[in-house]
Amino acid sequence: MSDDNRGISPPEFDEHFIQRLDDLMVWRRDVRHFKTDPLAPGMLDDILDRAYLAPSVGNSQPWRFVKINSPALRTQIIEDFMECNDAALHDYAGETAKLYASLKLAGLQDAPEHLAVFVNTAPEEGLGLGRKTMPEMLHYSTVTALMQMWLYARARHVGIGWVSILNPERVKTIVDVPPHWDFISYLCIGYPQQETNIPTLEKVGWQARVNREKFTQER
Ligand SMILES: Cc1cc2nc3c(=O)[nH]c(=O)nc-3n(C[C@H](O)[C@H](O)[C@H](O)COP(=O)(O)O)c2cc1C
Repeated sequence: MSDDNRGISPPEFDEHFIQRLDDLMVWRRDVRHFKTDPLAPGMLDDILDRAYLAPSVGNSQPWRFVKINSPALRTQIIEDFMECNDAALHDYAGETAKLYASLKLAGLQDAPEHLAVFVNTAPEEGLGLGRKTMPEMLHYSTVTALMQMWLYARARHVGIGWVSILNPERVKTIVDVPPHWDFISYLCIGYPQQETNIPTLEKVGWQARVNREKFTQER
């Protein structure tokens, strides 16, 4: 095994960097209100490149991305969202739920980029390593890639909004992907109208962040 790091020395992550990394995590947001301005040329590919630096089971890199450019396809996705959303809202009463729903719809309508994210459940890459007993590791791997994109995008002042109130099989049909791809996420991507360090759902009183002690156990 070569240890030449392709000729590059390990970087020094100093205190300043660590502080900025914290800032990045604190200021990352699920964005719901986008400017309609297009992303800078090459920005979406820059963001996607970061997915390929993510960890994945067996180095299988099972994430698959489809840029949804067609207005007709976007409309079909929005229609599916509205249908699923109506069904989801039956479980809730009151104004907060309606607000929650309306916010995401605004994102779908305004964001200049739409990205459908899938996982290839039978990738050649990785030769099956590490996923015999837990095949869902491929799904988890895809989510790690998504998280890297989310943070990198934020550093470039680009916001991402995650939409999951969709019918996965319907999305697969609309986007026309192979049957062995599972739907992971539909992302709205664009410049946010506002930058904030507080999750929207905390602001509207739906759910605040909890602290570490609440969910960390010791044995
Ligand atoms: C797996 C996953 C699915 C999500 N699906 C939705 C969704 O369908 N609608 C929505 O409004 N937000 C969705 N979100 C965003 C969360 O609401 C958001 O991350 C959470 O409220 C915390 O806010 P923050 O991301 O700004 O810190 C999703 C986030 C994740 C990780």
